[in-house]
Amino acid sequence: MKKIFIPLFAAAVCALSATASTPVYLDDTRSIDERVEDALSRMTVKEKVAMLHAQSKFSSAGVPRLGIPEFWTTDGPHGIRPEVLWDEWNQAHWTNDSCVAFPALTCLAATWNPDIAMLYGKSIGEEARYRGKDILLGPGVNIYRTPLNGRNFEYMGEDPYLASKMVVPYIKGVQSNGVAACVKHYALNNHEVNRHTTNVIIDDRTLHEIYLPAFKAAVKDGGTWSIMGSYNLYKDQHGCHNQYLLNDILKGEWGFDGVVVSDWGGTHDTAEAITNGLDMEFGSWTNGLSNGASNAYDNYYLANPYLSLIEQGKVGTKELDDKVRRILRLAFRTNMDRNRPYGSICSPEHIEAARTIGEEGIVLLKNSGKVLPINPKTVRRVAVVGENALKMMTVGGGSSSLKVKYELSPLDGIRHKFGPDVEVVYARGYVGDPTGEYNGVVTGQNLKDDRSADELIAEAVDVAANADCVIFVGGLNKSAHQDCEDSDRTALELPYGQDDVIRALARANRNLVVVNISGNAVAMPWVNDVPAILQAWYLGTESGNAIANVITGTVNPSGKLPMTFPVKLDDVGAHSLGLYPGTPRNDGSKIVDCKYDEGIFVGYRWADRNKVKPLFPFGHGLSYTDFKYGKAKVDKSSIGTSGKLTLTIPVTNTGDREGSEVVQLYISDLKSSLPRPVKELKGFKKVKLAPSETAEISFEIDRDALSYFDPSLHAWVCEPGSFEALVGTSSADIRSKVRFEVSDTLADNK
Ligand code: GLC
Repeated sequence: MKKIFIPLFAAAVCALSATASTPVYLDDTRSIDERVEDALSRMTVKEKVAMLHAQSKFSSAGVPRLGIPEFWTTDGPHGIRPEVLWDEWNQAHWTNDSCVAFPALTCLAATWNPDIAMLYGKSIGEEARYRGKDILLGPGVNIYRTPLNGRNFEYMGEDPYLASKMVVPYIKGVQSNGVAACVKHYALNNHEVNRHTTNVIIDDRTLHEIYLPAFKAAVKDGGTWSIMGSYNLYKDQHGCHNQYLLNDILKGEWGFDGVVVSDWGGTHDTAEAITNGLDMEFGSWTNGLSNGASNAYDNYYLANPYLSLIEQGKVGTKELDDKVRRILRLAFRTNMDRNRPYGSICSPEHIEAARTIGEEGIVLLKNSGKVLPINPKTVRRVAVVGENALKMMTVGGGSSSLKVKYELSPLDGIRHKFGPDVEVVYARGYVGDPTGEYNGVVTGQNLKDDRSADELIAEAVDVAANADCVIFVGGLNKSAHQDCEDSDRTALELPYGQDDVIRALARANRNLVVVNISGNAVAMPWVNDVPAILQAWYLGTESGNAIANVITGTVNPSGKLPMTFPVKLDDVGAHSLGLYPGTPRNDGSKIVDCKYDEGIFVGYRWADRNKVKPLFPFGHGLSYTDFKYGKAKVDKSSIGTSGKLTLTIPVTNTGDREGSEVVQLYISDLKSSLPRPVKELKGFKKVKLAPSETAEISFEIDRDALSYFDPSLHAWVCEPGSFEALVGTSSADIRSKVRFEVSDTLADNK
């Protein structure tokens, strides 16, 4: 009997386990949520907990028994990071993980073109998919509050409306590949100094009007499948497990159904991680084995510490099941979606996309005397000066650093474009950072140069004096205290004595073009001595071609600044009020309180309110052609707050070549219960026009464009009264205004 019993029992167990272990990965036509419930019902508590935290530097566990794959994440917003060792930041030295570096997101924002954002997201999503990644750790949309923030180059500028409109297509493009976007860093990570210990103190209105809109759009319009919490604190809770930001707003008010991923090392407490909205924990330094012990993944805050609380009956599994439901939903959207495409990498299409994005994002800041474009047929010798003409910029800068298939330098792009009949002579001009390595990826460039500044300037002046024109390529770089994660700049001025070089070149040759490569605004004390200035961002793999195509006029520049370029740091609210980077508490906690007391008056909002004339205003960007604006008209002179009003304005290309113009709509509330900015961006349209062509540009103006956030109601309010619509080519160059009335009040929590 006993013998018969055991085989029967064993068979039953096996059958049971076989059923329980039947992979959920079936051709199952049920809805994702039904499949989620099915998978959840088959999982043990241990398997559920294992899904909540990393198993390696960039991956988290699946459920092998049930055929649920592990998740692979990858940086970053500009390209797919090279493979690292299992538990290391350093390279795995694969030979097939080079990528295309797309331009930095400040460049994307400067295109003011949502179609380009879609192209960007689709292309980078294809590269992530091909590399077998399920979550792309980007894009970043933290608002540009200070020009010193080391990571502004990864974000989309100072205006919440522009960032909101540009982030949505990027997300859709990425996710069309079955790869999750992971919009970061939610929220209030607006500088890098003390990034793990800064506690942001901010009023509700500023939070909802300035710092949340791009994240809200990412969730409600972009449908992002994941969000990354921020390192900093808000209301004394870390961004990665924050009741207010994650539960109340993100998952509560906005109905986010995706996964909240911690920043790497952003988790600090098991109890808060359980209850305050975190779903997946990465990069923690555990104190289970010892801080930073390798493979200490079982000691993560949401690993054994959480499991033992459950096993001891000290916490339930309600939060656990909610986290795992979200993770399973992410699985069915990504690595368990049998229909997702296969991706591609380093394709001609991606290289063309990188170049196109760069060309459209370059901003022509100044062009007096029409020095630009330079026709290669009209010059014999071109002088190119500056370290940034040849220094690789795809390596460095922090987690967005890449290993690229290639990076064409501005110097090589210019040489190639001007061709064999033009002599291109190079001079260093200055020595910035001759190193070139990040996490084991090396540029291979030997930029060492021991000459003195005077010797370098003398050489540059000599080269410039004997050339038909001079192209200075300088700016910032991806080194610490430049445009780099985990540190901020310490001044607005250009580093390495570049101002002296530029002044010397201006004296040596009046046909001088300054190309500024940076992710941040910089001071330009020589602005009146230089006839032509291009803002060229970090343009990635195709930098040289994009810059050369704009300089020679193959491409007519159409970029517009996504942030204000102030004359001096004190022209910026956070600095004028002495609020940056905050005040350390003297209670031994290492917390630094940073008060955003400038409130909603960030960027051009501050400049307008305080009548501060910027060096170059938000939305500024010239063209090689000219545009004339007609008179703005509205189809009705008054609307109810639930109504809509259509504004139209004719724009004509009055020049002799095709060009694109970004027509910008700002709204001014002439009388409001709460102080409001002089004007706020509430619409933009990029239009390509042939010479003499006129387009009728129209904008819908509805309550969204008219409302402000009333913290006492916790609602967006559109008040009756007089408003003005201002249409222009930048925030400081308004070409037509039209007044209209709003007849009644309607407040709701949109
Ligand atoms: C970094 C960054 C984050 C990045 C992550 C993984 O510290 O803050 O943006 O995605 O860690 O490298």
